Amino acid sequence: MPSATTPPRRIFISTALPYANGPFHIGHVMEYIQADIWVRHVRLQLTDADRLYFVCADDTHGAPIMLKAEAEGLTPQELVARIAATRPKCLNGFLISFDHWHSTDSPENTELSQDIYRKLKARGLIYPKTIEQFYDPVKGMFLPDRYIKGECPKCGAKDQYGDACEHCSTVYNATELLNPYSTLSGATPVLKTSEHHFFKLSDPQCLAFLREWTQQGRLQSEVSNKIREWLGDEAGENKLVDWDISRDAPYFGIEIPDAPGKYFYVWLDAPIGYLASLKARLRQEGIALDDFLRDPGIEQYHFIGKDIIYFHTLFWPATLKFAGDPYHVPDNVFVHGFITFSGEKMSKSRGTGISPELYLDLGLNPEWLRYYLAAKLNDRVEDLDFNPDDFIARVNSDLIGKYVNIASRTATFIKKYFDNRLGQQFAALPMAQETLQQADAIAALYEKRQFSAAVRQIMELADKTNAYWDQQAPWTLAKRFDTLSDAERAALHDTCSVTLEVFRLLTLYLKPILPKLSGDVEHFLNIAPLNWREATATLPPGHTINDYTHLMTRIDPKQHIDRLLEMQAQKNAASAPAAKSVVASTPSTPTTQASPTITIDDFMKVDLRVAKIVQAEAVEGSDKLLKLTLDIGEEKPRTVFAGIKSAYAPEQLIGRLTATVVNLAPRKMKFGVSEGMVLAASGETPGIYLLQPDSGAQPGMKIK
Ligand code: 2FM
Ligand code: ZN
Repeated sequence: MPSATTPPRRIFISTALPYANGPFHIGHVMEYIQADIWVRHVRLQLTDADRLYFVCADDTHGAPIMLKAEAEGLTPQELVARIAATRPKCLNGFLISFDHWHSTDSPENTELSQDIYRKLKARGLIYPKTIEQFYDPVKGMFLPDRYIKGECPKCGAKDQYGDACEHCSTVYNATELLNPYSTLSGATPVLKTSEHHFFKLSDPQCLAFLREWTQQGRLQSEVSNKIREWLGDEAGENKLVDWDISRDAPYFGIEIPDAPGKYFYVWLDAPIGYLASLKARLRQEGIALDDFLRDPGIEQYHFIGKDIIYFHTLFWPATLKFAGDPYHVPDNVFVHGFITFSGEKMSKSRGTGISPELYLDLGLNPEWLRYYLAAKLNDRVEDLDFNPDDFIARVNSDLIGKYVNIASRTATFIKKYFDNRLGQQFAALPMAQETLQQADAIAALYEKRQFSAAVRQIMELADKTNAYWDQQAPWTLAKRFDTLSDAERAALHDTCSVTLEVFRLLTLYLKPILPKLSGDVEHFLNIAPLNWREATATLPPGHTINDYTHLMTRIDPKQHIDRLLEMQAQKNAASAPAAKSVVASTPSTPTTQASPTITIDDFMKVDLRVAKIVQAEAVEGSDKLLKLTLDIGEEKPRTVFAGIKSAYAPEQLIGRLTATVVNLAPRKMKFGVSEGMVLAASGETPGIYLLQPDSGAQPGMKIK
């Protein structure tokens, strides 16, 4: 409770800005749902004097977006606009209550980034330094490490990235690679010097500030422990290294003042995008950002994933601290883990994971996912596993079976016997009192982002309520309703009414997670929107509720989950690399135009091998498929289903060599799992032609 001396709260909350080069994936949606639940919880506590702004934006700058736009024949701005247009569908679909969505490619962000830079420079924390870097002479640009490959200087493995060897794990500089090449043009990069601008993170005042800010107990313990490793112990050396915040043209970014041809590195202007978004939102109310940031009631929180801790707990607070007035150092940074799918990392290329857009397109209820994630989220930096069976069980058995069920059971009685009117004495009954007593504890769990514990506690209350109902067995009195005494009738009435009062409280407790469902319940109970401050305002004696209408459908495993997983597999297959799968049944017509250009890097992702067909057989029940057993030089042969039955008799194929994609995600088909894809040509005229290497090729040889 704010005391008379506490200023009104001015809360500013953000989620990490997604790169504007692709649609949201489920990891983004998980973060938005986590933050949204917290935001809704906080909002339910606010008074009219408080303000909360929940913002995000597209992270637009940097070389990858510039290059992707170029490959698609677009300007970066066009690419960014195209992606921005896809955002509302998911944000609205999953009921994410952002107050504003902005862009880092905006006048606000340019102004703020340049202002922060100037302030840091004026404090002596920015300096120029000439560095030597790889340059692609064909492409005419300096190459970020991710666009350079070559042979590992330690073990000689080919096609290793510019920072570390995937084969022997050695870490090195791109300049140490043997026979380096640019993945953009294939050219041999040359070393070239350029003046860059650095932020002096190693300055003793930065170290002193960061030690204090990161080790005061505000951050999660896993996070502050990690940071301690980065900072080094107090007696030891200063481990912080200065931060290169500039990039050379051509670059899609914000120009550095007084430094022609130099741009801010995307990670400098990205978090400033939080402030740009807030500024744009505040302008709608005629509030100046500077005033808002200087307000004594200001609180600033950022939700992020565990992969970007360094940027948000070292660079970002230090940038704000030393830029000084009016900027405010974050009050906290809340870090979450990744989302996995049945224990595996979500990966589009391996065909795991689910697309949030597809989830919505197939009509799955967004509140199922919100509830499921809430039931598993906590305040630790742990990965969260999405498991389809667990998802079905938690929604159907807990959310619907325990909570929604309370309303549907009670509504029938209150309507049939009491014309939707509540009794007189119910609010004082122990069941209502016990449930109300949990309000503060549950609010405290939300506050600490321990959502799974909150849900557990709420479901325990739902269990108790159902047990109470069963123990009261109102149907026994109802059976002889016409012969009941006044006292019996009042008892029956109060049992029904107290159960609804408990349902009201459980709805308040679940409201941050289930905003739509709680709105429907508020309508059913015929009450004003619920909030934490008025938790004690019970349903009034004699209050009339509305007719019950169905609140939530159960998940149908076949209709919802199997379909989602099948469609996702199809979607992944359709967006798989250019080679035409003959697993997909219909051969495509050749296009007269070539597909969009890909980099050699893209091509190298496809692991193509020579395969020997050791067995081929028809598949019962399929007029298109043959089941092939392939030797690709591995210990065990692989099974691949290929849609080539119309062109080949199985016996024709046995012993033949062909080309296979071996790193395609295994695909579950009606007849079994297909563990790869054989390559074949097809055109407008009928016919499928399996590819075959020249004689001498051996099973397992790499094709490139
Ligand atoms: O890692 C990412 O996806 C970045 N686009 C996050 C940026 S968060 C903030 F700094 F803008
Ligand atoms: Zn190596």
